[in-house]
Amino acid sequence: MKKIAVLTSGGDAPGMNACIRSVVRSAHAHGVEMLGVMRGFDGLLARSFHPLQPRSMANTLQRGGTILMSSRCESFMLPEQRAAAYLNCKREGVEGLVCIGGDGSLRGLLALGTEHGFPIVGVPGTIDNDLEGTDFSIGFDTALNTAVEMVDKLRDTAAAYDRVMLVEVMGRQSGHIALDVALACGAEAVLLPEITTNVEVLVQRLNASAERGKHSQIVIIAEGEKQGGAVEWEKRLEGKVKTPVRFCVLGHVQRGGNPTARDRLLAGRLGAAAVEALVQGRSGVMVGEINGKVVETPLPECLRQHKPLPHDGLSLLGVLAT
Ligand code: F6P
Repeated sequence: MKKIAVLTSGGDAPGMNACIRSVVRSAHAHGVEMLGVMRGFDGLLARSFHPLQPRSMANTLQRGGTILMSSRCESFMLPEQRAAAYLNCKREGVEGLVCIGGDGSLRGLLALGTEHGFPIVGVPGTIDNDLEGTDFSIGFDTALNTAVEMVDKLRDTAAAYDRVMLVEVMGRQSGHIALDVALACGAEAVLLPEITTNVEVLVQRLNASAERGKHSQIVIIAEGEKQGGAVEWEKRLEGKVKTPVRFCVLGHVQRGGNPTARDRLLAGRLGAAAVEALVQGRSGVMVGEINGKVVETPLPECLRQHKPLPHDGLSLLGVLAT
C-alpha cells in the first residue's frame, strides 16, 4: 500500500485531530503517503484531497474539532454516489481509506468497501460511545468531563434554592453520556432513550428525596429520551414536583474543547492501529480498545446494534442517590 486517505465524518469529537495526527505519522513511519479528505464523504465526492505530511500535524494534538472538517453526507446513502467516491479515490491513487466517525459514518464506509472491494478501516470517533467493538470511542471522555463540570455548577445554584435542575445532555439514540454524567455528578435520576420513564414514579422519587432533606436535585435527560427533552420535561413536572424546577440544555458545548489525556491516548493508539491494519492487508474492520488491548472487529459486528448500557448503572445510581 503506497497511498492512504483519511477523513472525519458525522459529529465531530474531541480527539479527532489527535487521531488524524497518529494516522499521518504512523503512515509516514511505514513509508506510506497520506492524503486528508476535507468535509468527510462530501470531500470524497468533491475530490477534495490534500497531502498531509508529518509536519502538517504540528500543534493539532491538543485541539478540539477536526482540522479536516466534517459533514453529515446524506447523498452517501446512494450506491451511485459511493461509486463516484470510489472512482475519485482511484483517480487520486488512494489504495486505502481510514474513516474516523460514529455509526452512520462507519455504515457508509462499510458500504463503500463492500461494494467496490476497496480497503477501508473505521476508527470509533463519537462522543456518544455507542459503538460495539470498543470500550470507549474517541471524544466520549472529553464530552463526559465537560458535561460533569457544567452539572457541578448547576448543582451549586440549584442548592441555593431547593430546586430540581433538569439537564439535557447529548445522545439521540443512546444514553451512555447521560448515564455516566448522572453517576459522576450524583444525579437523583436519569432519563434515557433506552428506557421509558414513568412520570409518576419520577415525581414520587423527587418529592421523596426533597422530604428526606435534599436541597438540590439533578435529573439528567438524554437528548433522545422518547417523551422529549428537558424543555418538555420541565412542563410535565411543573406543579407535580413540590420544589421549583428549572432546565438547562448543554448542547454542542459537549462536542468542543481540548481532548482529555484519555482521549488523546486512545486516539494515538487507534490511529496507529488503523494504519497497521491497512498496511497488513486487513480491511472491513473497526479498530477499538477492549480491556486495555487494541482489537480489530468486523464492521458489521460493530454496527449490529447500539452498544447496550452497562447493566448495573441504573441500580447503582438509585443506591448512590439516597
Ligand atoms: O453523534 C454525536 C452527536 O453529538 C449526538 O449526540 C447528537 O445527537 C448529534 O451528534 C447532534 O448532531 P448535529 O450537531 O448534527 O445536530
